[in-house]
Amino acid sequence: MTLQAHPQQDETQQTEPVLPGFTLGDFEINPPIALAPMAGITDLPFRRICRRFGIGLTVTEMIASRAVEFGSERTERMAELDPGESPVSIQIAGSNSKYVVDAAKWAVDHGANFVDINMGCPVKKIVKQVAGSAMLRDEGLVARVIDAVVQGVDVPVTLKIRTGWDSESKNVENIARIAEDNGIQMLTVHGRTRAQMFNGQASWEDIGLAKAAVSIPVIGNGDIIDGASALEMIRQSGCDGVMVGRAVQGNPWMLDEVHAAIMGLPKPEQPSAEEVWEVVLEHMLHLADFHGVKRASKLVRRHVPWYSKGLRGSADFRGSFQKVFEWDAQVETAKAYFLSDIHHSIDPQRLDIAI
Ligand SMILES: Cc1cc2nc3c(=O)[nH]c(=O)nc-3n(C[C@H](O)[C@H](O)[C@H](O)COP(=O)(O)O)c2cc1C
Repeated sequence: MTLQAHPQQDETQQTEPVLPGFTLGDFEINPPIALAPMAGITDLPFRRICRRFGIGLTVTEMIASRAVEFGSERTERMAELDPGESPVSIQIAGSNSKYVVDAAKWAVDHGANFVDINMGCPVKKIVKQVAGSAMLRDEGLVARVIDAVVQGVDVPVTLKIRTGWDSESKNVENIARIAEDNGIQMLTVHGRTRAQMFNGQASWEDIGLAKAAVSIPVIGNGDIIDGASALEMIRQSGCDGVMVGRAVQGNPWMLDEVHAAIMGLPKPEQPSAEEVWEVVLEHMLHLADFHGVKRASKLVRRHVPWYSKGLRGSADFRGSFQKVFEWDAQVETAKAYFLSDIHHSIDPQRLDIAI
């Protein structure tokens, strides 16, 4: 058995893609499917897993520009990219132009093909510093920070926003225009306001307002759960690409489903139990390799149960997995659940991982 992504469709089935992809600087974003940055989740091991599936752009989790200034081992790890991980963006946050520009330069030094500025984060700690989504309330500040970063680095600068602070002050079109006028080369819109946090529905129509206001590529984000919802977002918003976050947790196969939908191909088959286990084990081993076994033991308690979503006996497995703390026992418990009576045949050596 080989370690492959979910089997690709027969090439003879190829049809016209719904979205053709686009150019960003020296890179083609094709397929125009991005993995959403998710703090504490989209570390290098997670992105490495996702790269096996239908994806055209990965983004690191958000890195605060002040954290870059202080410099720490943890911040360095957050910006670590896989060799060959390209195109890839490092996301930075902050509202003090000097620090944000320094962080952008640091991101480029760490190999980022693009620098993404976060103006969407709703978390109190960030908002209190007038960073993340709080910046949307001050359009002058948005323009100044973007301009400083665009002038400060020679890679494409991209921006990720929400649709505004709250329903009374939505300004997605203004922000989109300000972004384009100040040199942003790609805009990602999460179709919620800050006030919505993660509640309610993302408005794909609001993403369309941004798309209609500018000529740079606009990536739609929020509530894509499968190929059909990706197509519906594209239909409602006219976006040039899609970004998927939570639905990928424990289900990177859904990226292949979104890819197939965008290519106009039928939905791929569900992975077999054995294929799921291959990916779970690979993810566990990458976590151990990157973070060390001690930290990986904590992280797998978040990631591994996600892979059981929708599978028989998931609730029992989640319960029992949370009670296992030791690495070897975690691997065995996961293996016993995901394989049941199917023998696993993966050789960790093939992953070039020494733990
Ligand atoms: C746990 C978590 C962490 C997140 N961290 C970030 C982040 O660091 N930067 C960012 O721009 N968005 C962050 N987001 C927002 C996602 O990128 C995305 O905009 C949001 O989840 C909506 O997309 P989805 O419905 O596909 O998940 C985070 C979301 C979650 C759930």
